[in-house]
Amino acid sequence: MSQETQSNGQNNANNAPETSALWGGRFSEATDAFVQVFTASVGFDQRLAFADIQGSRAHAQMLVEVGVLTQEEGQSIQDGLNQVEQEIRNGEFQWRVDLEDVHMNIETRLTQLIGINGKKLHTGRSRNDQVATDIRLYLRSAIDACLFQLRQLQKGLVNLAEEHAETILPGFTHLQVAQPVTLGHHLLAWTAMLVRDEERLVQTRQRVNFMPLGSAALAGTTFPINREITAKLLGFEGICDNSLDAVSDRDFAIEFLSDAAMVMMHLSRMSEEVILWMSAQFQFIDLPDRFCTGSSIMPQKKNPDVAELVRGKTARSYGHLMGLLTLMKSQPLAYNKDNQEDKEPLFDGIDTLYNSLMSFAQMLPAMKVKKENMRKAALQGFSTATDLADYLVRKNVPFRDAHECVGSAVAHAQAHNCDLSDLSLETLQSFSGVIEQDVFEVLTLEGSVAARDHLGGTAPNQVRASVARHRERFERNPISEVNEI
Ligand code: ARG
Repeated sequence: MSQETQSNGQNNANNAPETSALWGGRFSEATDAFVQVFTASVGFDQRLAFADIQGSRAHAQMLVEVGVLTQEEGQSIQDGLNQVEQEIRNGEFQWRVDLEDVHMNIETRLTQLIGINGKKLHTGRSRNDQVATDIRLYLRSAIDACLFQLRQLQKGLVNLAEEHAETILPGFTHLQVAQPVTLGHHLLAWTAMLVRDEERLVQTRQRVNFMPLGSAALAGTTFPINREITAKLLGFEGICDNSLDAVSDRDFAIEFLSDAAMVMMHLSRMSEEVILWMSAQFQFIDLPDRFCTGSSIMPQKKNPDVAELVRGKTARSYGHLMGLLTLMKSQPLAYNKDNQEDKEPLFDGIDTLYNSLMSFAQMLPAMKVKKENMRKAALQGFSTATDLADYLVRKNVPFRDAHECVGSAVAHAQAHNCDLSDLSLETLQSFSGVIEQDVFEVLTLEGSVAARDHLGGTAPNQVRASVARHRERFERNPISEVNEI
């Protein structure tokens, strides 16, 4: 079929040509077969199908309300879109590469189904504002889904922290034993990172939730559209103020990928600790078998693969952020085809974040804690040395002198292969005359953590107080589950 017949045939909706470009009118030869495949995005932007239909429904309804389409035309479009949606849900929809992208596939099928009215849907709209709207709708639900998993993870960690408010493990600096801390406090440090991640995603969502539709190709449209109506129907909190900006910038997607990279960085730090803790050298925790895999050659192996993979996937998350920043940096206003390249990094960024959060939300709260091993490790490495120095300061020894004196006591204990708490009172007194019997209280692990009893400190009391604050936040600010992105 010639290009002319394709584009001029007003009533041939039911026998649409095999390869019809919707811009056929201006072209005198068909698109090169390779170029067609090369420029097509339908292989990956199908994901936007439901967002695209949602956007079209609202656009059509608005066109009816302002009188650009008749009630009948509007109704026929709505019925047709319902049918297209059903076909996609049932897996019956025939996606065609020659129709380039999700938008033209859906519009073409709509026209096949309802005839001429299908061709009226695109009035006052362009694929440029259409795709920008679709991505925002899709990303908005994706953020909600990620926020739910993020919250599940926080809840799991908070429960575990409560359970281990008094469990003691060594705290490290430079990965050298520093001071004893409670496991609850450590887990709440992870939670604190995730709380800021939640805040960032919530703020990004606010900027995502602006509507480009109505910007048309770049300059707006000559039709008497009412963008408030469309925005309200689609649940957008705001309307993009400038059409050139609305169709071209993808900063909202970059912002999401930046937030995602930050969450992944946090998950990767947690992974690193989980992996260390599960090693034969630490033996602090064990993970349920269902989250681990074995080795094909070494029968004794049980590997924390999920944690390793999350640490590994952090790399692609950073890559997607760099990719989109670079994609955007040299584009003149307004829309350029370059922007079609925004989708794969964004979609993969969403999947990576969602799956990593979901696996951690299930795995971390299920870790088995080996309290005795943690305690044993905390007793090594003179983790209460600072407590002894603080004790001397309370007896009026200047801190620098106390530091020096405890340093000598540590060297002595090290030479005798024992802990500070194993030294006799007489030996301790040889380092400082102010030391009395009550020093031994200070040198215990329990005394050490209990003494750091202020907001933000590691004392079991403070862990419980922080758990209560987190739970209060969960209640004040609930996040519900998302059924479908
Ligand atoms: N598939 C395109 C994209 O992802 C849709 C917009 C195309 N617009 C255009 N004028 N070629 O960006």
